[in-house]
This record gives sequence, C-alpha cells and structure tokens, in this order.
Amino acid sequence: MITDTHCHLTCDTLYEDADQIIEEALAKGVDLMMIMCTNKEEYLRAQALKAKYPQYLKVAYGFYPGDVQDITSEDLAYLEVEAKAHHIDVLGEIGLDYYWDTTFKEQQKQLFIRQIEMANEANLPISIHMRDASRDCLDILKAHAKTPIIFHCFSGSLEIMKEALTMNSLISFAGPITYKNNKQGPINVAHCPIDRILSETDSPYLSPVPYRGKTNHPAYVHATVSKIAEIQEVDEEVLCKQIRDNFLALFA
Ligand code: NI
Repeated sequence: MITDTHCHLTCDTLYEDADQIIEEALAKGVDLMMIMCTNKEEYLRAQALKAKYPQYLKVAYGFYPGDVQDITSEDLAYLEVEAKAHHIDVLGEIGLDYYWDTTFKEQQKQLFIRQIEMANEANLPISIHMRDASRDCLDILKAHAKTPIIFHCFSGSLEIMKEALTMNSLISFAGPITYKNNKQGPINVAHCPIDRILSETDSPYLSPVPYRGKTNHPAYVHATVSKIAEIQEVDEEVLCKQIRDNFLALFA
C-alpha cells in the first residue's frame, strides 16, 4: 500500500511506456499514483489511463508557474470546466517559482490566485509548487485558499514548514530527502507530524537514492518512503497506511 502523490506519468518522457511503468509500480506495491498534468495533451492522456486503471490512479491538472507566459484564456476556461465537473481530483500543480525567472512575478501571482479561486469554487484540493518564493506563496494561500493544500516536494526551511502546517495542509516529501548532501530535508521530515506527511516521486525527475541518475518512476517511491520511516522511527507498513489515509482524507 505505497502511494506516489505526484508523478508526471503522461509527460512525453514517460507516457510511451506508461502501461509498463504502472505494472512495474504495482509489482513494487505502489498501488495509488496521482498523475500531474500541466497541459491539455497530458490531461487527455491521463484521463485515458485513468479509464483503464481507475482503482490505481488519480488525476491532477493545473498550470505550473514556469509556463505562465504560454497560458491562454482558453486554457483557463477549459481547466475551469473540468474542475467544476469534478473530472479532476486535485487542482495543480500551481504556485510560484522565482528560481528560474523573476521577470513575471506579477503574472505568476495572478495565475496562481485565479487557479486557487477555481479550486475554491469546485471544492477541490490544491497541489502547490513553491520554489524560492515561500513568503509570497504562503501569503497568497493564507489570503485565498479555502480547500486542503498539498505542499509538493517540500524543500523549504523548518520555519516555513511550521507555518505551512498551521494551514489545512499536507507536506509531501520526494527523492531529495534521500540525498547525502541534503541536511534540511531529513530535519523537516523529523519535525513533520506523521498524520501530515505524503510521499511522492515527482517522476521523471528527482530519483531517490539508489536510483539517482536514472529516469524516475513511481515504483521508486518506496526508497523515499523507507527514508521517511527511518527518520520517523516508525514501521514502514504503518507509515504506508498512514500516508494512504492522509491522502485519501483529501477526497472524503
Ligand atoms: Ni511536478
């Protein structure tokens, strides 16, 4: 009962082998995966996969801050229709990213707020991408978010995590917590209450040790889960059950 709450299974890198990747995940005990879609093509692919494997998949759709210049009003209108119809399980990943580019900060904020409002309207949880933008991101969430929040691949400071935990939120940990040079990740894991933790791959990116350097797959989330269990000093099976409960509570 292992959960990957964030995988880009329908991106061009993984989609061709999606069936094989799902089979491989199931063989490793990863029997619930949320597919993150960043455009309509990925989204339609995800819906086709979900029709084939309904019990193993959830679908999230939303516009990533790095794509802000390419998102049209048609894109937003389509997302809104799909959200309102509850054809998606989570709206995201959405958020702010000042790591690559700060030229479009205002546009990023507008796109973020617009999508939070859509999620509020449709009563859908949101998945948050927050990179080098914690302050603005948390301020916007506090002012606008009314539905549960997933902080995807959390990599902020302990102080930011504690602030994030004051909201109706879950903290999702990915491969980087297994990296030797990552001092902050394990500290965050140790301080996160077990009933607020999620596990994810963010595949095809961020492969955990011992798969570093390979293309990441949902099957590899077990390595991140093992690391969380080790840090939290909890039995792995107990942790897996807890993570599953934490995730499914979003949809209850
Ligand atoms: Ni992602």
